[in-house]
Amino acid sequence: MLDLRIDRRSLIRSSMSAMLASLLPLSGNAGGHQPLPLIRKPVPSTGELLPVIGLGTNAFGVSAPEELARVREVLREMPELGGTVIDTAQAYGLSEQVIGRKLEALGTRDRWFIATKTPIRGDIPDPRAALDRSFTDLRVERIDLMQVHNLHETALQMPVFIEAREAGRLRYIGISTSLDAQYQELAAAMRRYPLDFIQVNYSIDDRSAADEILELAAERRMAVLVNMPFGGRRNAASIFARVANRELPDWAAEFDATSWAQVFLKYVVSHPAVTVAIPGTTRLANLLDNQAGGRGRLPDADMRRRIERYWDALPG
Ligand SMILES: NC(=O)c1ccc[n+]([C@@H]2O[C@H](COP(=O)([O-])OP(=O)(O)OC[C@H]3O[C@@H](n4cnc5c(N)ncnc54)[C@H](OP(=O)(O)O)[C@@H]3O)[C@@H](O)[C@H]2O)c1
Repeated sequence: MLDLRIDRRSLIRSSMSAMLASLLPLSGNAGGHQPLPLIRKPVPSTGELLPVIGLGTNAFGVSAPEELARVREVLREMPELGGTVIDTAQAYGLSEQVIGRKLEALGTRDRWFIATKTPIRGDIPDPRAALDRSFTDLRVERIDLMQVHNLHETALQMPVFIEAREAGRLRYIGISTSLDAQYQELAAAMRRYPLDFIQVNYSIDDRSAADEILELAAERRMAVLVNMPFGGRRNAASIFARVANRELPDWAAEFDATSWAQVFLKYVVSHPAVTVAIPGTTRLANLLDNQAGGRGRLPDADMRRRIERYWDALPG
């Protein structure tokens, strides 16, 4: 969980602008270089600022020692790099338990903004018990963001979510999906429930959320977590393959991107309605790459169109 005192200070220091580059110094400043400013955006319902690049953990449900060591390394480094938002779910196997154990052992739990989700399928005979499972597995007394996963049993769970937010056990509540086929249902839920957040898929290769969902989130003043910013774990390899042999265009330097991953992430988080992207990785090298994508400048509207035109003109 985040230290709100820091956020309030930052909020006061920052302007009213929706896109905020806070000039907080970064610890672990390797090589003595001054790191580029961390980009943070506000959660509309409170003004709390969040670093725009988080971490997705649908591959964190591991148990082999070498895999656990890799995950531990990612969890150890992320706060040092400035990132705070981590997204997990009960549906990701052991992911919540692994995160709970590792953050406790690292002693860094208070430096994170932890988002998780209720069951993705099956009966939920007792929604309070379903919620409690995440508290137990994550080893926390408060969860920053609880989301209904893929709109599974939204009507059943929403009253319990709202009650837990009022009681201070949940700081924020939301709903997630990564399926275009659920957008209509998601839009209806966004109009019906007092959500702080939604989570939706959006990437340079699949911009359909922008048409209705992102517009609606801005209108309803809901924060947006973006899942699958590289097209999702199953498709990411083919997205990166499309640019594998291509040099970064000169224009990437105009928004401080030094890799294709950073171009893709900066495209996503420069949408005015997007708050945080949560790229999934279990590799330190990719974490470093992605976190660097949360610093410096972002593409403006003209540059966003340029990135789209470039992508759309690529073969295959
Ligand atoms: N319905 C939902 O609520 C829903 C659905 C899907 C996902 N999610 C959430 O969103 C998160 C992100 O989605 P995702 O993980 O499926 O897809 P993603 O973030 O679009 O892509 C992840 C893939 O990209 C690779 N990758 C990460 N950083 C890279 C880099 N800098 N350069 C090259 N490759 C890189 C990862 O490989 P390595 O692991 O080898 O780095 C992994 O294969 C999930 O982890 C989960 O938390 C939610």
